[in-house]
Amino acid sequence: MSSAEPRIAGPEPGSGVSDGHWAQYAELTGRCFGPIDMDLEIPRRHGLVCLALLDGQVVGGAIALPFHQHFGGRVVPTAGLSLVCTAPQARGRRISARVVTELATALAADGMPVVSLWTATPGVYRRCGWEVAGNARGTWYPIDAFRDAPATDLTLVPDPSPEAMRAVRERDAARWNGALLRPGWWTAWKQAGGEDDTVSYGFAAGGDLVGYATLRCETRRPWGYDLAVRDLHAPDARTLQALSGMLSEHGAQAERVHFPPGVLPPDPDFTWLLPRHRAESYDWYPWMLRLTDIRGALEARGWSPAVDAELELAVESRSEADRLLTLVVTGGQGKVHDGGRGLIPITERGLAAWYAGALSASRASRLCLLRADTTALQSMDAMTGGQEPWLADLF
Ligand SMILES: CC(C)(COP(=O)(O)OP(=O)(O)OC[C@H]1O[C@@H](n2cnc3c(N)ncnc32)[C@H](O)[C@@H]1OP(=O)(O)O)[C@@H](O)C(=O)NCCC(=O)NCCS
Repeated sequence: MSSAEPRIAGPEPGSGVSDGHWAQYAELTGRCFGPIDMDLEIPRRHGLVCLALLDGQVVGGAIALPFHQHFGGRVVPTAGLSLVCTAPQARGRRISARVVTELATALAADGMPVVSLWTATPGVYRRCGWEVAGNARGTWYPIDAFRDAPATDLTLVPDPSPEAMRAVRERDAARWNGALLRPGWWTAWKQAGGEDDTVSYGFAAGGDLVGYATLRCETRRPWGYDLAVRDLHAPDARTLQALSGMLSEHGAQAERVHFPPGVLPPDPDFTWLLPRHRAESYDWYPWMLRLTDIRGALEARGWSPAVDAELELAVESRSEADRLLTLVVTGGQGKVHDGGRGLIPITERGLAAWYAGALSASRASRLCLLRADTTALQSMDAMTGGQEPWLADLF
């Protein structure tokens, strides 16, 4: 393997990458991730591709998928990085850092001030300004856990329309930080990746859909199956009770209900509703966030309307022009001015975790990610209060 620096190709819309380089990248993803249940052509068509080339060979790459996420109740144009990989023979040379940084810069220039990714290697991204924004966990509940739920006045609707489910999902998403607005091609992409054997049930009040669940059967050995809930938006106790009734009566062979990683928020509402807690969980890896355009990100997010604040930030590890910023928040809306006294030194990754609502300012200060006096910490804690992080979609 050459010791020369790799050439970075892109980022460019997928169609700009030659078929030969694309084929090499597709082969590399198979090597790095094993067989992937994913139609790669869909993200290629809709995403931004960046490749690292050494001696004409693709030795690394990533795809950025443009979408929108909610932060503080507002919709922020963002992107998710997918299939970041470096060829085994080229690892340890910070090639992935170059690829993701090139992508992040291009995304900021294209008006996407925030970038997310799921990763099992947070250290690699932390060096480039990303920080953990949330966790995901897969959980099994015994089917008995859902028995005896109080009856509700909701009507069960088999196969609700995609539009009605989308409306429910988007209403629910506004309550969370990071919840995605799926682009139009998302469902086709997921279905091409093997999620086409699902059935959906909606819950309606007076003809309006107020929640839904998408299910599939997962075979168990030696016999029987688990019910897997692949997508769930049940925003209140009534909908969760209706869901519980439906799950418990769904099939006599199902012994457990499986919620794969991300389907439930990190602290699911079931914790406060189910009479018996017999869940069994497994950890997935976290998702991380980077503010690629700090000013744009701080102004795009919603803030608690109950708190007016002025924060004079000194953001570490950024260009001098971006270092001193003053964030003024009034009526839930942020405005960033250049300069200020830099009273709150904050690391780029500390800013990302606080922005996501993953870390309170007080906790970030204990972790040495920022420094502020008690009044400023209380104010920062209140500014992001209200929404917790939840990213249900894997990419
Ligand atoms: C994660 C991955 C993208 C990192 O790529 P990379 O270009 O090698 O990144 P780096 O050069 O920053 O190295 C990352 C770490 O791997 C170590 N490493 C792994 N294999 C190595 C090798 N063969 N030689 C030297 N170092 C190696 C590095 O020392 C470094 O450790 P550190 O973080 O403690 O400093 C790459 O390992 C990979 O493709 N893994 C499989 C796919 C994957 O998991 N992708 C991430 C999904 S988000």
